[in-house]
Amino acid sequence: MTGLLIGTLVISGTHTALWLPRSLAYRKQIKNGHVEGGAYVRRFRRFHRNLHLMVVSSFLGLALTGMMLKFSYMGWAKLLAHLLGGFEAAGLIHRFCAGLTFAYFGLHVYDLVKQRRASGKSWRQYIAGEDGMVFNGRDWQELTGSLKWFFKRGPRPEFGRWTYWEKFDYFAVFWGVAVIGGTGLLLWFPEIFTRVFPGWAVNVATTIHSDEALLAVSFIFVVHFFNTHFRPERFPMDTVIFTEGVPLEEFERDRPREYRQLVESGELAGMIMPSPLPHEVKFWRRLGFTALSIGLILIGLIVYSMLFAYR
Ligand code: HEM
Repeated sequence: MTGLLIGTLVISGTHTALWLPRSLAYRKQIKNGHVEGGAYVRRFRRFHRNLHLMVVSSFLGLALTGMMLKFSYMGWAKLLAHLLGGFEAAGLIHRFCAGLTFAYFGLHVYDLVKQRRASGKSWRQYIAGEDGMVFNGRDWQELTGSLKWFFKRGPRPEFGRWTYWEKFDYFAVFWGVAVIGGTGLLLWFPEIFTRVFPGWAVNVATTIHSDEALLAVSFIFVVHFFNTHFRPERFPMDTVIFTEGVPLEEFERDRPREYRQLVESGELAGMIMPSPLPHEVKFWRRLGFTALSIGLILIGLIVYSMLFAYR
């Protein structure tokens, strides 16, 4: 578990560290970074927005209450638990947020089945095709192309609908729900599970759950936050998952392959949407800022606890 934690963070951290200087230069090249106003291109449906709201709120709730339980000997955890009504209440909130997690996961799979049927494609074409989420040879080329770009040995890859790091984030949720969710259920209902598994499985599940949770929290609050929000051309945040669209100019620059495909197939016009209203953008920015701040503060508390008081 420790190897998985360190390995994942070292690889993704190196990728991030190499990306940073090129991203700064890219921001300068595009001058004003995030463009606003004018025509927007729809990237997400309302359903995706609502699902992501469930992901964000449940994950923050699970991470906060879970870390309070893990570091229950720390002053900050005791204070937070006191504010929430005690450690027992934190455990209840944890279970409620776990329920939300299983709900959004089920809703996503249900939507996937529905969308696949409506597309008329086979499963293979749907999930591994041009717009699919499954890794393919092109992702490998774009990863190696990005590494070359980081070292100034080539141009920035011409990204399409999903980049390789977005696909990685997506599969991390599947992995997380299976491993953290599975072990979490065992901790939740030990009487049922130990009818089949030996008693020590509960101890093993606690270790896996706790270490995987640490990995998920550090990955989301450091790597995902940088890739999506804090890299210079996006800083301080990208609200596309909430506003549902990106400015046309930005879309053409950031995902030239997808832009070209949509122009050639004549589908681009159907995806143009009005730019979000200023008060909407303000609302989503505030919400995003709150979520990002909670994540960063929690990471700070975890690092502090692990460095100075880990038991
Ligand atoms: C999604 C399904 C999940 C379920 C069903 C679940 C369930 C549980 C349960 C039952 C406990 C024991 C709590 C208690 O004794 O009151 C627990 C502990 C914990 N959970 Fe979860 N959980 C889930 C997801 C998560 C996630 C996503 C995180 C963090 C990212 C997380 C972090 C933790 C931590 C750190 C602990 C304390 C472990 C320790 O004592 O070292 N959990 N969880």
